[in-house]
This record gives sequence, structure tokens and C-alpha cells, in this order.
Amino acid sequence: MKALIIGASGQVGGNLASLCVRRKIEVYPTSRVGQGFVYLDLADPASIAAAFEKSRPDLVLLCSAMTYVDGCESDPALARKINAAGPALVADECRRAGAKLVYFSTEYVFDGKSGPYSEEDPVNPVSVYGLTKLEGERAALALENSLAVRTTVVYSHNPASKNFIMQLINSYRSGAKMRVPSDQLSNPTYAPDLAAATLALVEKGASGIYNVVGPDWLNRYDFALKACAAFGFDPAFLEPRLTSELGQAAARPLIAGLKTDKLARELGRGLPPAEESLRKIASIIKQYE
Ligand SMILES: NC(=O)c1ccc[n+]([C@@H]2O[C@H](COP(=O)([O-])OP(=O)(O)OC[C@H]3O[C@@H](n4cnc5c(N)ncnc54)[C@H](OP(=O)(O)O)[C@@H]3O)[C@@H](O)[C@H]2O)c1
Repeated sequence: MKALIIGASGQVGGNLASLCVRRKIEVYPTSRVGQGFVYLDLADPASIAAAFEKSRPDLVLLCSAMTYVDGCESDPALARKINAAGPALVADECRRAGAKLVYFSTEYVFDGKSGPYSEEDPVNPVSVYGLTKLEGERAALALENSLAVRTTVVYSHNPASKNFIMQLINSYRSGAKMRVPSDQLSNPTYAPDLAAATLALVEKGASGIYNVVGPDWLNRYDFALKACAAFGFDPAFLEPRLTSELGQAAARPLIAGLKTDKLARELGRGLPPAEESLRKIASIIKQYE
């Protein structure tokens, strides 16, 4: 099998690429800037066509996005180009190539008034990021047999990433205070578990929307406390704040999070609890101390 991994330089794409290599899947990883990657810019249609021509994939894992939520708010045209128009072009190429498409979506398609949400709940994004990701999801799902994986608060130990756990580790080490929202409820999701569950869904031939998130439904401050306990950090550097106090450009869904009953039915299991992955990260941290 040949897999084109769009956005393999990112957190989710990188984990998928490692897993595919371990499973002997032939991988074509893309980036706009990284060395050793196939060049692909979702804002550049010719580069999308060229990457398909080069890889002739059976499977396309579309992980790329403009993920800077506040940046999307200040440049909606660019956000729409990357998060919505680009995925529509990728779906067209998949249709021509007969390739299976997996699109990574987000809990930000919801307004956060009554989470956690199932796959069937009505969407209502409150940010440009959420709206453009929803448009991308719809373009992907218009392709027969495609899979949309909705996820949230993805974390891993990856010094190149700005994920929440890396921000926490870096703040603690630099002695900086870290303001953490105490009113955003969600399901933190360990990137290697997300990658494994996604490939398991592909192997089962799943299509349509699946929520793939960790089982812990908690606010960001409580997640930070859990991480500090696992890592042996004194949590005094954490400053709990209401989202309204953070002065962010884009609105956030507050009572969010995703239900995973459908995933558990399909795979016979959900994702492991956060304690388990935080313990793994703690042992990686200790190796570097
Ligand atoms: N991280 C989360 O908490 C989270 C939550 C919900 C949903 N998601 C979704 O999951 C997916 C993966 O997220 P992630 O955490 O892996 O993101 P990430 O670490 O920020 O990586 C983003 C990826 O997108 C690529 N990219 C950015 N602009 C691009 C463009 N114009 N054309 C092509 N590629 C571009 C980047 O590659 P280069 O810069 O190397 O080109 C990078 O590989 C995204 O679709 C995101 O919306 C993530």
C-alpha cells in the first residue's frame, strides 16, 4: 500500500508516518518547507497535482491545516484557502486516483454550549478556524468512502511542536508563568494513540465521521495539573484563567469534548487514559535530565 501523508512534518502527520513505516506501508510524506519531504502547499493547486502524480497513492492522510486558531481569525481568506479549498482539491485528486481519503477534523466545528458531542450532533462553529475546517470536512466527506476523524487537544513529546504539553514543559523549565484556561472542557488526545486508532479504522474500512479522542473529559487547567503530577513538576507556575480573560482573537468552544461510543463499537476499545500517556512522556523527560 502507498500512503500520501499531507502534513507529515506536523504532530499528527509525523506520528502517522512513523506508524505507517513500522507497518511496511510505503510513505510519501509532504511539507512546504521540510528537507526530505515531497513538496505540497494546499494553497498551490499545481503542487497538489504533482504530489499525487509522484506518489500515486492508495491512501491519503490529510493532516495539513492552518492550525493557528487566532491567525485564522485575522486572515479568513488564507484560512479558507488552506483549510477548505485545499482539501476540496485533494478530494478531487483522490477521486481521480481511486484513493481512500482520511481528513483530520476538529471539535471546533461545535459551539461548545453542550458538549461532549457525538458524531450526529448539529455543528455550529464559533471561529473562522472551526468554520473553514468544517468546510474542509464536508469537501472530504463528499468523496465516497472517505473518513473524517474529529479530534482535539492533541499532545505528544515533540520538541518541534507547540502542543499544550510541550508549552507546559517549556514554561516550567524556563521558570515562566503559564496562563491556562480553567473553563474549556475537552478530551486531551495522545498523538500516537490517535495515529494508531486512525489506521485501525482505515484497516476496518470505516467511513464517515468518527470522533477519536482520549477518554478523560476535563478542563485545561485540570489536565495541566494531571501532567504536573505525572512529571513531578510543582504546579505553582500555572495560573488558571477564564477564557474571557485571555484576550484571544477567536472564540473557543467552552463545554466541548467528543464522545467516542462509535469508535469503541468499531474497534472494540477506546483510547487509553491520559495517565498512561503522561507516564510515557514523564519517562522521556527523565531520559533528557
Ligand atoms: N493539534 C490539535 O490539538 C488538533 C485538534 C483538532 C484537530 N486537529 C487537526 O489535526 C490535523 C493535524 O494537526 P497537527 O497538530 O498535526 O498540526 P501541526 O502540528 O500544526 O501541523 C500542521 C501541518 O500542516 C502543514 N501545513 C500548514 N500549512 C500548510 C499549507 N498551506 N499547505 C500544506 N501543508 C500545510 C504543516 O506543514 P509545513 O509547515 O511543514 O508545510 C504541518 O505539517 C489538522 O488538520 C488539525 O486541524 C488538531
